[in-house]
Amino acid sequence: MTAATNNPGKGEGQKVGVAILGLGTVGTEVLRLLNEKSEDFERRIGGPVEVVGVAVSDKSKPRPNVNPDLITDDAFSLVQRDDVDLVIEVIGGIDYPRRVVLEALRAGKSVVTANKALVAAHGAELSDAADSSGVDLFFEAAVAAAIPVVGPLRRSLAGDTVNKVVGIVNGTTNFILDAMDSTGADYQEMLAEATRLGYAEADPTSDVEGHDAASKAAILAGLAFHTRVTAADVYCEGISKITAEDIAAAKSADCTIKLLATCERVVDEDGSEAISARVYPALIPRRHPLATVRESFNAVFIEAEAAGRLMFYGNGAGGNPTASAVLGDLVAAARNIVHGGRAPGDSTYANLPILDFGQVRTRYHIDLHVDDRVGVLADVARTFSDNGISLRTVRQEGSDEGARLVIVTHQALEKELEDTVEQLRANDAVLAVNNVIRIEGMDV
Ligand code: NDP
Ligand code: HSE
Repeated sequence: MTAATNNPGKGEGQKVGVAILGLGTVGTEVLRLLNEKSEDFERRIGGPVEVVGVAVSDKSKPRPNVNPDLITDDAFSLVQRDDVDLVIEVIGGIDYPRRVVLEALRAGKSVVTANKALVAAHGAELSDAADSSGVDLFFEAAVAAAIPVVGPLRRSLAGDTVNKVVGIVNGTTNFILDAMDSTGADYQEMLAEATRLGYAEADPTSDVEGHDAASKAAILAGLAFHTRVTAADVYCEGISKITAEDIAAAKSADCTIKLLATCERVVDEDGSEAISARVYPALIPRRHPLATVRESFNAVFIEAEAAGRLMFYGNGAGGNPTASAVLGDLVAAARNIVHGGRAPGDSTYANLPILDFGQVRTRYHIDLHVDDRVGVLADVARTFSDNGISLRTVRQEGSDEGARLVIVTHQALEKELEDTVEQLRANDAVLAVNNVIRIEGMDV
């Protein structure tokens, strides 16, 4: 982290020129609110804000209520113009926005972005460029849109020690899992419903396979643990393999299944610290605050040493909610442009190692179909104990064709569980491993 540079500011009453890159779902709302509330922005900032250019991909598209003179398809030239002080990047993607945002930062323009994929992949490079130019780089909207969580981690909790951040940070998958939970329908049916209602995109891969949540987890872990974390450091599984039977099994354990982004500080027996950042569908008890997060809402649960437990809840997507976060950042950056100074850059001093996923410790819910004969339960239990895993509960239900064993473990290492499941699959008495789902939040 470098110290703030000696930006003296343009001075009270001076205009802040803004370039908006992207005029889709988010950009359109940002522009509308900037126009509609221009007097409020001027008072809050200490100088007027003027949108001096808007970059899009296709200039020929009709854009009602947008001054055509503002529109350009040359974002690179726009960000370098002398009348641009601040750039809002709401294009999406990684490579193109990386190049144009770097261009803007190197040209001395502060940048506000909603782009989690960009920040999670190239945060260090962008942050270094912002430091070198003495400008601001803000990205509140990149995690859970309207919900203030980047600011609280960056500023409000900067004096505390954060030990854990667990979030539902993807609205599409929460909508699908919640609908599966309340209707009993299967995954494909509820994905189709999410698409019909406009929650899921035409290509839902990034959401349902957990990549969107993994980018957000990388950003949260980096801020929480003062360490540089990229999306590639985050273990990631999506929800596309979750079945109606998994949801039913969760219900019978008084749990629900959520796609969780978990960021955790792990302290070894010898006192050495590492961090784990992971995204996967997990069972959580229905009494856990995150279990009450319905439909497409997001929530982030933080445990800090002095603050205790905090939860942030709200809209994690949509043009208007995302514009709220973008504009909050705009006000902060514009105040610095007018009055001088800049926010400190990212704090990455701790530089903690990323824990190998095999060393992550959690609980598991394992659903087996086994032969119903003498010794099978003992044999299965021995497989767990041979791998050092202690069982918390075992439930057996008989059926015409064998028995169903539902096992909940105490905390165990991923590696131990992986070996156990491999050995169970190789056991002739185990007819099927129906599911293995991790359990989070038992301690809340
Ligand atoms: P959209 O796809 O709706 O809009 C993208 C915009 O970028 C379009 O206006 C498009 O132009 C423009 N664009 C594409 N390529 C270029 C280019 N090369 N040069 C200039 N403009 C270009 O995206 P969203 O508004 O939904 O998302 C924007 C960002 O905000 C993404 O990073 C996303 O992850 C993030 N975000 C979005 C949320 C949401 O709910 N939508 C929530 C939180 C974050 P054209 O109009 O000509 O096609
Ligand atoms: N696609 C995301 C979601 C919204 O479903 O939550 C933007 O982060």
